[in-house]
Amino acid sequence: MSLSNRDKKHIWHPLTQHKTSKSAIAIVKAKGATLWDENGNEYIDGIASWYTCMYGHCHPYITSRVAEQMLLMDQVVFSGFTHEPAIELSEKLIAILPDNQQKLFFSDNGSTSVEIAIKMSLQYYFNNGEKKNALLAFEDGFHGDTFGAMSVSDLSVYNGPFEDFFLNVIRIPTPNGKNNAELLKQIEILISENDVASFIYEPLVQGAAAMKMHNAEGLNDILKLCKQHNILTIADEVMTGFGKTGSNFASDYIETKPDFICLSKALTAGMLPMAITSCTQEIYDAFYSDTIEKGFFHGHTYTANPLACRVASAGIDLLQTKEIQNNIKQIIAAHKQFDITIKDHPKVVATRQIGVIYAIDLNVKMERYGDLRNKLFDFFMKEGVFLRPLGNTIYILPPYVISKEELERIYSVIKKSFLLF
Ligand SMILES: Cc1ncc(COP(=O)(O)O)c(C=O)c1O
Repeated sequence: MSLSNRDKKHIWHPLTQHKTSKSAIAIVKAKGATLWDENGNEYIDGIASWYTCMYGHCHPYITSRVAEQMLLMDQVVFSGFTHEPAIELSEKLIAILPDNQQKLFFSDNGSTSVEIAIKMSLQYYFNNGEKKNALLAFEDGFHGDTFGAMSVSDLSVYNGPFEDFFLNVIRIPTPNGKNNAELLKQIEILISENDVASFIYEPLVQGAAAMKMHNAEGLNDILKLCKQHNILTIADEVMTGFGKTGSNFASDYIETKPDFICLSKALTAGMLPMAITSCTQEIYDAFYSDTIEKGFFHGHTYTANPLACRVASAGIDLLQTKEIQNNIKQIIAAHKQFDITIKDHPKVVATRQIGVIYAIDLNVKMERYGDLRNKLFDFFMKEGVFLRPLGNTIYILPPYVISKEELERIYSVIKKSFLLF
Protein backbone atom coordinates (compact mmCIF):
# COMPACT_ATOMS: atom_id res chain seq x y z
CA MET A 1 0.00 0.00 0.00
CA SER A 2 1.26 3.52 -0.75
CA LEU A 3 2.37 5.78 2.09
CA SER A 4 -0.45 8.18 1.18
CA ASN A 5 -3.00 5.43 1.75
CA ARG A 6 -1.39 4.07 4.92
CA ASP A 7 -1.37 7.64 6.27
CA LYS A 8 -5.18 7.79 6.16
CA LYS A 9 -5.71 5.07 8.72
CA HIS A 10 -4.42 6.85 11.85
CA ILE A 11 -3.14 10.30 11.01
CA TRP A 12 -5.00 13.57 11.57
CA HIS A 13 -3.27 16.39 9.64
CA PRO A 14 -3.03 20.07 10.62
CA LEU A 15 -5.22 22.69 8.93
CA THR A 16 -7.10 19.98 7.06
CA GLN A 17 -10.76 19.12 6.56
CA HIS A 18 -10.23 15.44 5.93
CA LYS A 19 -13.67 14.86 4.42
CA THR A 20 -13.03 17.16 1.48
CA SER A 21 -9.24 17.03 1.22
CA LYS A 22 -7.22 14.88 -1.12
CA SER A 23 -4.74 12.34 0.23
CA ALA A 24 -1.58 13.80 1.70
CA ILE A 25 1.43 13.70 -0.64
CA ALA A 26 4.09 11.43 0.85
CA ILE A 27 7.53 13.03 0.73
CA VAL A 28 10.39 10.57 0.98
CA LYS A 29 13.45 12.77 0.45
CA ALA A 30 14.44 16.42 0.81
CA LYS A 31 17.72 17.97 -0.26
CA GLY A 32 18.66 21.59 -0.99
CA ALA A 33 15.58 23.23 -2.49
CA THR A 34 14.07 19.94 -3.71
CA LEU A 35 11.45 17.56 -2.32
CA TRP A 36 10.79 14.06 -3.73
CA ASP A 37 7.53 12.17 -3.31
CA GLU A 38 6.97 8.43 -3.07
CA ASN A 39 6.20 8.24 -6.80
CA GLY A 40 9.52 9.81 -7.73
CA ASN A 41 8.09 13.26 -8.53
CA GLU A 42 10.31 16.25 -7.73
CA TYR A 43 9.14 19.59 -6.37
CA ILE A 44 11.00 22.84 -5.86
CA ASP A 45 10.25 23.95 -2.30
CA GLY A 46 9.17 27.53 -3.09
CA ILE A 47 8.23 28.33 0.52
CA ALA A 48 11.12 26.56 2.31
CA SER A 49 8.61 24.25 4.02
CA TRP A 50 6.76 27.03 5.87
CA TYR A 51 9.88 29.18 5.85
CA THR A 52 11.96 26.89 8.05
CA CYS A 53 14.77 25.30 6.01
CA MET A 54 16.23 28.54 4.69
CA TYR A 55 19.69 27.02 4.14
CA GLY A 56 18.17 24.18 2.14
CA HIS A 57 17.01 20.75 3.27
CA CYS A 58 19.60 18.51 4.95
CA HIS A 59 22.47 20.97 4.62
CA PRO A 60 25.67 18.91 5.11
CA TYR A 61 27.21 21.38 7.58
CA ILE A 62 24.10 21.23 9.77
CA THR A 63 23.70 17.46 9.56
CA SER A 64 27.37 16.95 10.44
CA ARG A 65 27.19 19.21 13.51
CA VAL A 66 24.04 17.41 14.72
CA ALA A 67 25.58 14.02 14.05
CA GLU A 68 28.59 14.93 16.23
CA GLN A 69 26.27 16.13 18.98
CA MET A 70 24.14 12.97 18.80
CA LEU A 71 27.14 10.86 19.75
CA LEU A 72 27.85 13.04 22.79
CA MET A 73 24.53 13.88 24.41
CA ASP A 74 20.91 13.69 23.30
CA GLN A 75 18.76 15.26 25.99
CA VAL A 76 19.05 16.48 29.55
CA VAL A 77 16.71 18.40 31.85
CA PHE A 78 17.33 22.16 31.48
CA SER A 79 16.05 23.15 34.90
CA GLY A 80 19.07 22.99 37.20
CA PHE A 81 21.33 21.74 34.37
CA THR A 82 22.96 23.41 31.42
CA HIS A 83 25.09 22.33 28.45
CA GLU A 84 27.55 23.65 25.91
CA PRO A 85 25.20 23.53 22.87
CA ALA A 86 22.77 25.92 24.63
CA ILE A 87 25.59 28.18 25.82
CA GLU A 88 27.22 28.27 22.37
CA LEU A 89 23.84 29.13 20.83
CA SER A 90 23.13 31.85 23.39
CA GLU A 91 26.42 33.56 22.56
CA LYS A 92 25.90 33.32 18.80
CA LEU A 93 22.29 34.48 18.93
CA ILE A 94 22.83 37.41 21.28
CA ALA A 95 25.62 38.58 18.97
CA ILE A 96 23.19 38.99 16.04
CA LEU A 97 20.01 40.06 17.86
CA PRO A 98 19.28 43.77 18.39
CA ASP A 99 21.63 45.14 21.08
CA ASN A 100 19.02 45.47 23.80
CA GLN A 101 18.26 41.71 23.84
CA GLN A 102 20.17 40.04 26.68
CA LYS A 103 18.37 36.91 27.93
CA LEU A 104 16.98 33.86 26.12
CA PHE A 105 14.17 31.55 27.23
CA PHE A 106 13.85 28.29 25.30
CA SER A 107 10.72 26.43 24.20
CA ASP A 108 9.49 24.23 21.37
CA ASN A 109 7.59 26.12 18.66
CA GLY A 110 6.52 29.56 17.48
CA SER A 111 3.26 29.51 19.42
CA THR A 112 4.99 28.74 22.72
CA SER A 113 7.56 31.47 22.11
CA VAL A 114 4.63 33.89 21.82
CA GLU A 115 2.83 32.37 24.80
CA ILE A 116 5.97 32.91 26.89
CA ALA A 117 6.40 36.53 25.80
CA ILE A 118 2.76 37.25 26.67
CA LYS A 119 3.04 35.54 30.04
CA MET A 120 6.32 37.32 30.84
CA SER A 121 4.82 40.69 29.91
CA LEU A 122 1.85 40.08 32.21
CA GLN A 123 4.03 38.79 35.05
CA TYR A 124 6.44 41.72 34.65
CA TYR A 125 3.66 44.03 35.82
CA PHE A 126 2.36 41.54 38.39
CA ASN A 127 5.85 41.31 39.93
CA ASN A 128 6.07 45.09 40.00
CA GLY A 129 2.72 45.32 41.82
CA GLU A 130 0.81 46.80 38.89
CA LYS A 131 -2.41 45.44 37.48
CA LYS A 132 -2.58 45.29 33.67
CA ASN A 133 -5.03 43.06 31.87
CA ALA A 134 -5.13 44.06 28.21
CA LEU A 135 -2.95 43.35 25.19
CA LEU A 136 -2.66 45.32 21.99
CA ALA A 137 -2.35 43.49 18.64
CA PHE A 138 -2.64 44.18 14.93
CA GLU A 139 -5.64 43.32 12.80
CA ASP A 140 -4.95 40.30 10.57
CA GLY A 141 -2.05 39.19 12.78
CA PHE A 142 -1.15 35.55 13.27
CA HIS A 143 0.86 34.39 16.26
CA GLY A 144 0.07 30.71 16.61
CA ASP A 145 -2.41 28.12 17.83
CA THR A 146 -2.13 28.00 21.63
CA PHE A 147 -4.67 30.04 23.62
CA GLY A 148 -2.62 33.15 24.29
CA ALA A 149 -1.24 33.12 20.76
CA MET A 150 -4.71 32.56 19.29
CA SER A 151 -6.10 35.39 21.40
CA VAL A 152 -3.70 37.90 19.89
CA SER A 153 -4.21 36.48 16.38
CA ASP A 154 -6.99 37.83 14.21
CA LEU A 155 -7.67 35.20 11.58
CA SER A 156 -11.17 33.94 12.35
CA VAL A 157 -10.73 30.92 10.09
CA TYR A 158 -8.55 29.51 12.85
CA ASN A 159 -10.11 31.08 15.94
CA GLY A 160 -13.91 30.86 15.64
CA PRO A 161 -14.82 28.18 18.24
CA PHE A 162 -12.49 29.54 20.89
CA GLU A 163 -13.11 33.26 20.90
CA ASP A 164 -15.21 33.21 24.07
CA PHE A 165 -12.20 31.95 25.99
CA PHE A 166 -9.66 34.49 24.79
CA LEU A 167 -7.48 36.99 26.68
CA ASN A 168 -8.51 40.63 26.61
CA VAL A 169 -7.08 41.89 23.30
CA ILE A 170 -7.54 45.29 21.68
CA ARG A 171 -7.00 45.20 17.95
CA ILE A 172 -5.55 48.03 15.91
CA PRO A 173 -5.06 48.46 12.13
CA THR A 174 -1.57 48.25 10.68
CA PRO A 175 0.11 51.54 9.67
CA ASN A 176 0.10 52.10 5.91
CA GLY A 177 1.89 55.44 5.66
CA LYS A 178 -1.36 57.34 5.13
CA ASN A 179 -3.08 56.42 8.38
CA ASN A 180 -0.03 56.76 10.69
CA ALA A 181 -1.06 59.96 12.51
CA GLU A 182 -4.71 58.92 12.79
CA LEU A 183 -3.67 55.52 14.10
CA LEU A 184 -1.48 57.03 16.81
CA LYS A 185 -4.41 59.16 18.03
CA GLN A 186 -6.63 56.08 18.06
CA ILE A 187 -4.05 54.11 20.06
CA GLU A 188 -3.62 56.95 22.57
CA ILE A 189 -7.36 56.84 23.27
CA LEU A 190 -7.33 53.04 23.62
CA ILE A 191 -4.35 53.24 25.96
CA SER A 192 -6.07 55.83 28.14
CA GLU A 193 -9.17 53.64 28.43
CA ASN A 194 -7.45 50.30 29.11
CA ASP A 195 -4.65 48.86 31.25
CA VAL A 196 -2.46 47.65 28.41
CA ALA A 197 0.45 45.39 29.40
CA SER A 198 1.98 44.74 26.00
CA PHE A 199 1.76 45.19 22.26
CA ILE A 200 2.51 42.18 20.05
CA TYR A 201 3.24 42.56 16.36
CA GLU A 202 4.75 40.79 13.39
CA PRO A 203 7.33 43.39 12.34
CA LEU A 204 6.84 44.67 8.77
CA VAL A 205 5.31 41.47 7.34
CA GLN A 206 2.22 39.57 8.46
CA GLY A 207 2.95 36.12 7.07
CA ALA A 208 -0.30 34.20 7.49
CA ALA A 209 -2.28 37.26 6.36
CA ALA A 210 -0.76 36.56 2.93
CA MET A 211 2.51 38.44 3.43
CA LYS A 212 0.70 41.70 4.15
CA MET A 213 3.34 44.41 4.63
CA HIS A 214 3.10 47.61 6.63
CA ASN A 215 4.87 50.91 7.06
CA ALA A 216 8.14 50.87 9.07
CA GLU A 217 7.86 54.51 10.20
CA GLY A 218 4.32 53.96 11.37
CA LEU A 219 5.37 50.88 13.31
CA ASN A 220 8.25 52.80 14.88
CA ASP A 221 5.83 55.56 15.97
CA ILE A 222 3.58 52.96 17.63
CA LEU A 223 6.56 51.40 19.42
CA LYS A 224 7.71 54.82 20.63
CA LEU A 225 4.22 55.55 21.93
CA CYS A 226 4.18 52.19 23.72
CA LYS A 227 7.51 53.00 25.39
CA GLN A 228 6.19 56.40 26.51
CA HIS A 229 3.21 54.68 28.14
CA ASN A 230 5.19 51.79 29.69
CA ILE A 231 3.61 49.24 27.38
CA LEU A 232 5.98 46.36 26.71
CA THR A 233 6.58 45.47 23.07
CA ILE A 234 6.80 41.95 21.64
CA ALA A 235 8.19 41.46 18.13
CA ASP A 236 7.00 38.12 16.77
CA GLU A 237 9.84 37.30 14.37
CA VAL A 238 8.90 33.64 14.07
CA MET A 239 8.33 34.19 10.35
CA THR A 240 10.60 37.17 9.63
CA GLY A 241 13.73 36.10 11.53
CA PHE A 242 17.10 34.96 10.16
CA GLY A 243 17.61 36.91 6.97
CA LYS A 244 14.27 36.69 5.20
CA THR A 245 13.70 40.44 5.12
CA GLY A 246 17.23 41.04 3.83
CA SER A 247 18.52 41.78 7.34
CA ASN A 248 19.01 39.27 10.16
CA PHE A 249 15.76 40.42 11.79
CA ALA A 250 12.92 42.67 10.64
CA SER A 251 13.43 44.62 13.88
CA ASP A 252 16.80 45.75 12.46
CA TYR A 253 14.88 48.12 10.15
CA ILE A 254 13.05 49.78 13.03
CA GLU A 255 14.75 52.28 15.30
CA THR A 256 12.77 51.45 18.44
CA LYS A 257 13.72 47.99 19.61
CA PRO A 258 11.23 45.59 21.23
CA ASP A 259 11.35 44.31 24.81
CA PHE A 260 10.82 40.73 23.58
CA ILE A 261 11.56 38.87 20.35
CA CYS A 262 9.89 35.54 19.50
CA LEU A 263 11.93 33.17 17.33
CA SER A 264 11.33 29.74 15.82
CA LYS A 265 11.03 28.27 12.28
CA ALA A 266 14.37 29.21 10.61
CA LEU A 267 15.99 29.32 14.07
CA THR A 268 16.55 25.58 13.66
CA ALA A 269 16.86 25.59 9.87
CA GLY A 270 13.93 23.21 9.40
CA MET A 271 15.75 20.32 11.06
CA LEU A 272 14.37 20.12 14.60
CA PRO A 273 11.64 21.97 16.47
CA MET A 274 12.71 24.69 18.90
CA ALA A 275 11.84 28.25 19.81
CA ILE A 276 13.33 31.08 21.82
CA THR A 277 11.85 34.14 23.46
CA SER A 278 14.53 36.77 23.96
CA CYS A 279 14.16 39.77 26.24
CA THR A 280 15.99 42.73 27.72
CA GLN A 281 17.93 42.79 30.98
CA GLU A 282 15.20 44.99 32.46
CA ILE A 283 12.55 42.31 31.90
CA TYR A 284 14.82 39.63 33.39
CA ASP A 285 15.53 41.82 36.42
CA ALA A 286 11.82 42.09 37.20
CA PHE A 287 11.82 38.31 37.80
CA TYR A 288 15.15 38.25 39.71
CA SER A 289 14.22 38.22 43.36
CA ASP A 290 14.54 36.54 46.75
CA THR A 291 10.87 35.67 46.39
CA ILE A 292 10.48 32.35 44.56
CA GLU A 293 7.09 33.14 43.03
CA LYS A 294 8.58 36.11 41.22
CA GLY A 295 10.54 33.68 39.04
CA PHE A 296 9.10 32.49 35.74
CA PHE A 297 7.60 29.08 36.40
CA HIS A 298 7.17 27.88 32.87
CA GLY A 299 9.12 24.99 31.36
CA HIS A 300 8.63 22.57 28.49
CA THR A 301 10.12 19.08 28.73
CA TYR A 302 12.40 19.42 25.71
CA THR A 303 13.52 22.94 26.59
CA ALA A 304 16.91 23.68 24.97
CA ASN A 305 17.30 20.18 23.59
CA PRO A 306 21.05 19.85 22.83
CA LEU A 307 20.54 18.60 19.27
CA ALA A 308 18.17 21.46 18.43
CA CYS A 309 20.61 23.96 19.96
CA ARG A 310 23.39 22.55 17.78
CA VAL A 311 21.24 22.91 14.67
CA ALA A 312 20.46 26.51 15.58
CA SER A 313 24.15 27.36 16.11
CA ALA A 314 25.03 25.78 12.78
CA GLY A 315 22.21 27.75 11.12
CA ILE A 316 23.58 31.03 12.48
CA ASP A 317 27.05 30.09 11.21
CA LEU A 318 25.61 29.56 7.73
CA LEU A 319 23.54 32.74 7.83
CA GLN A 320 26.72 34.72 8.40
CA THR A 321 28.66 33.17 5.52
CA LYS A 322 29.41 35.31 2.46
CA GLU A 323 27.82 32.62 0.33
CA ILE A 324 24.42 32.79 2.02
CA GLN A 325 24.52 36.59 2.22
CA ASN A 326 25.26 36.68 -1.54
CA ASN A 327 22.48 34.21 -2.23
CA ILE A 328 20.05 36.44 -0.32
CA LYS A 329 21.13 39.43 -2.43
CA GLN A 330 20.71 37.43 -5.63
CA ILE A 331 17.20 36.27 -4.71
CA ILE A 332 16.23 39.85 -3.84
CA ALA A 333 17.49 41.04 -7.24
CA ALA A 334 15.80 38.17 -9.09
CA HIS A 335 12.42 38.89 -7.43
CA LYS A 336 12.79 42.55 -8.44
CA GLN A 337 13.40 41.59 -12.05
CA PHE A 338 10.45 39.21 -12.04
CA ASP A 339 8.27 41.90 -10.52
CA ILE A 340 8.97 44.23 -13.44
CA THR A 341 7.67 41.58 -15.81
CA ILE A 342 4.39 40.88 -14.03
CA LYS A 343 3.29 43.80 -11.89
CA ASP A 344 1.22 45.32 -14.71
CA HIS A 345 -0.23 42.00 -15.86
CA PRO A 346 -4.06 42.18 -16.07
CA LYS A 347 -4.35 39.17 -13.74
CA VAL A 348 -2.30 40.94 -11.06
CA VAL A 349 -3.76 43.51 -8.64
CA ALA A 350 -0.68 44.21 -6.54
CA THR A 351 2.79 42.88 -5.77
CA ARG A 352 5.06 43.43 -2.80
CA GLN A 353 8.51 42.42 -1.67
CA ILE A 354 10.79 42.67 1.28
CA GLY A 355 14.02 40.70 1.19
CA VAL A 356 13.43 37.23 -0.23
CA ILE A 357 9.68 37.43 0.50
CA TYR A 358 7.68 38.19 -2.62
CA ALA A 359 3.88 38.19 -2.92
CA ILE A 360 1.41 38.65 -5.77
CA ASP A 361 -2.27 39.48 -5.24
CA LEU A 362 -4.33 38.03 -8.08
CA ASN A 363 -7.21 39.73 -9.79
CA VAL A 364 -9.63 36.98 -8.79
CA LYS A 365 -11.74 36.06 -5.78
CA MET A 366 -10.24 33.07 -4.06
CA GLU A 367 -11.30 31.57 -0.71
CA ARG A 368 -8.49 30.58 1.66
CA TYR A 369 -9.31 26.89 1.24
CA GLY A 370 -11.59 27.20 -1.81
CA ASP A 371 -11.71 25.35 -5.13
CA LEU A 372 -9.67 27.83 -7.15
CA ARG A 373 -6.96 27.94 -4.51
CA ASN A 374 -6.82 24.14 -4.61
CA LYS A 375 -6.76 24.18 -8.41
CA LEU A 376 -3.77 26.53 -8.33
CA PHE A 377 -2.00 24.43 -5.72
CA ASP A 378 -2.54 21.25 -7.79
CA PHE A 379 -1.32 23.02 -10.90
CA PHE A 380 1.89 24.17 -9.20
CA MET A 381 2.55 20.66 -7.87
CA LYS A 382 1.91 19.13 -11.29
CA GLU A 383 4.49 21.56 -12.65
CA GLY A 384 6.96 20.50 -9.97
CA VAL A 385 6.75 23.58 -7.76
CA PHE A 386 5.55 23.64 -4.15
CA LEU A 387 3.77 26.93 -3.50
CA ARG A 388 0.88 27.40 -1.09
CA PRO A 389 -1.42 30.24 -2.18
CA LEU A 390 -3.05 32.14 0.69
CA GLY A 391 -6.46 33.40 -0.44
CA ASN A 392 -5.86 35.23 -3.71
CA THR A 393 -2.18 35.71 -2.93
CA ILE A 394 0.69 33.63 -4.29
CA TYR A 395 3.90 34.10 -2.37
CA ILE A 396 7.46 32.88 -2.81
CA LEU A 397 9.83 32.47 0.13
CA PRO A 398 12.54 30.18 -1.18
CA PRO A 399 15.48 28.59 0.64
CA TYR A 400 18.58 30.79 0.26
CA VAL A 401 20.35 27.97 -1.58
CA ILE A 402 17.83 27.87 -4.44
CA SER A 403 19.54 28.00 -7.84
CA LYS A 404 18.88 30.67 -10.46
CA GLU A 405 17.30 28.01 -12.69
CA GLU A 406 14.99 26.78 -9.93
CA LEU A 407 13.91 30.33 -9.17
CA GLU A 408 13.26 31.00 -12.88
CA ARG A 409 11.19 27.82 -13.00
CA ILE A 410 9.02 29.08 -10.11
CA TYR A 411 8.50 32.42 -11.87
CA SER A 412 7.54 30.79 -15.19
CA VAL A 413 5.11 28.38 -13.52
CA ILE A 414 3.45 31.29 -11.71
CA LYS A 415 3.04 33.13 -15.03
CA LYS A 416 1.62 30.00 -16.62
CA SER A 417 -0.90 29.66 -13.75
CA PHE A 418 -2.50 32.96 -14.79
CA LEU A 419 -4.14 31.04 -17.65
CA LEU A 420 -6.19 29.07 -15.12
CA PHE A 421 -8.56 31.91 -14.19
C1 LIG B 1 4.50 35.08 12.93
C2 LIG B 1 4.18 33.73 13.47
N1 LIG B 1 4.12 33.55 14.80
C3 LIG B 1 3.88 32.34 15.34
C4 LIG B 1 3.65 31.24 14.54
C5 LIG B 1 3.38 29.92 15.17
O1 LIG B 1 4.46 29.09 15.03
P1 LIG B 1 4.30 27.49 15.21
O2 LIG B 1 3.49 27.02 14.06
O3 LIG B 1 5.69 26.98 15.24
O4 LIG B 1 3.59 27.28 16.52
C6 LIG B 1 3.71 31.38 13.15
C7 LIG B 1 3.47 30.23 12.27
O5 LIG B 1 3.30 30.32 11.08
C8 LIG B 1 3.98 32.64 12.59
O6 LIG B 1 4.06 32.85 11.26
